Amino acid sequence: METLISGKNLKAYYVLDLWGSKKVVKAVDNVSLDILPNEIYGIAGESGCGKSTLLKALLALLDPPLRLMDGELLYNIEGRPTNVTLLKSETIRKLRWSFISYIPQGSMHVLNPVKRVRDTFIEILSSHVKKQTKEFLDLAVQHLKDLGLPERVLNMFPHQLSGGMRQRVTIALATVLKPRVIFADEPTTALDVVAQRAVMQLIRKIQNDLKNTVVLVTHDMGVHAQITTRMAIMYAGKIVEEGPTLEIFKNPLHPYTRYLIQSLPAIGDKKLRSGIPGSPPSLVAPPPGCRFHPRCPHASQRCREEEPLLKEIKPGHKVACFLMEG
Ligand SMILES: Nc1ncnc2c1ncn2[C@@H]1O[C@H](COP(=O)(O)OP(=O)(O)OP(=O)(O)O)[C@@H](O)[C@H]1O
Ligand code: SF4
Ligand SMILES: [Mg+2]
Repeated sequence: METLISGKNLKAYYVLDLWGSKKVVKAVDNVSLDILPNEIYGIAGESGCGKSTLLKALLALLDPPLRLMDGELLYNIEGRPTNVTLLKSETIRKLRWSFISYIPQGSMHVLNPVKRVRDTFIEILSSHVKKQTKEFLDLAVQHLKDLGLPERVLNMFPHQLSGGMRQRVTIALATVLKPRVIFADEPTTALDVVAQRAVMQLIRKIQNDLKNTVVLVTHDMGVHAQITTRMAIMYAGKIVEEGPTLEIFKNPLHPYTRYLIQSLPAIGDKKLRSGIPGSPPSLVAPPPGCRFHPRCPHASQRCREEEPLLKEIKPGHKVACFLMEG
């Protein structure tokens, strides 16, 4: 199958100048991945593992202090592989919203608090494509209706909307130009259970209607289990496992993935599940060898010295762990 977005050996670092001394946060460190048409691709991992930074790298949203230090990023635009890192920022900007759109983490803040929703729609959309405002608004109203929201939300201010409604308005904004790919960063976090379910149903409906691709970042493994088709597990700036979501949950291969799945509460289970011992390392000076070794119950001397590479163990199922090398 053709690849829609291909990242090869991406290194995206935050380069900070702290009173003359340089500090480098290796938030995405040699990550390769292929995102396919018509899928919901999930990215999981604990806080600080580099999920949001990976999305920014894939979006070529590289505002200082974030820098793409190495790697190649290709978008398949109308059948032509395009090297995005070589495009002018103006060209990349034009691709946003129409080819690729982005619902950032904490997207409650995408909407300007002092403007009516209608004006935010007009402002963002008219700055991206040359079409008349009226056409935009008609389309926006249709999208809001598709998302179960009445037209009158356009006349409201963000503070008059509930969290779930604001999240849906942001999704409507991100989908109004029918982009080929939608990147959503923690779209259900900070919402109550009912709003979470509504947003998930919505993402699924949009993907099903448009047959486009959704790249969904969330630390919530329950959300991945419910809506993603394939997923990657990130740990300390690297992808440690990738595969079809069903396969990952049925047969997790990386010890970190197993921890993440074990810490999910089972339905009807009132007991608190055990958390993962320890915490993710600093990405300024990550541990040598396998970055997971300080927390891994199976760590050997080799794990402390040598870095395991992401390898395909079964068709479509990749893992970076020496245990899987037989
Ligand atoms: N603007 C920044 N400047 C410096 N370091 C940053 C910046 N943004 C993120 N980082 C660091 O980069 C690393 C990866 O952060 P990132 O936000 O990508 O993680 P994440 O997996 O999305 O976490 P979360 O689940 O909390 O959203 C962390 O160590 C974080 O502290
Ligand atoms: S490579 Fe070693 S330390 Fe890393 S996850 Fe596998 S067994 Fe654990
Ligand atoms: Mg994040």
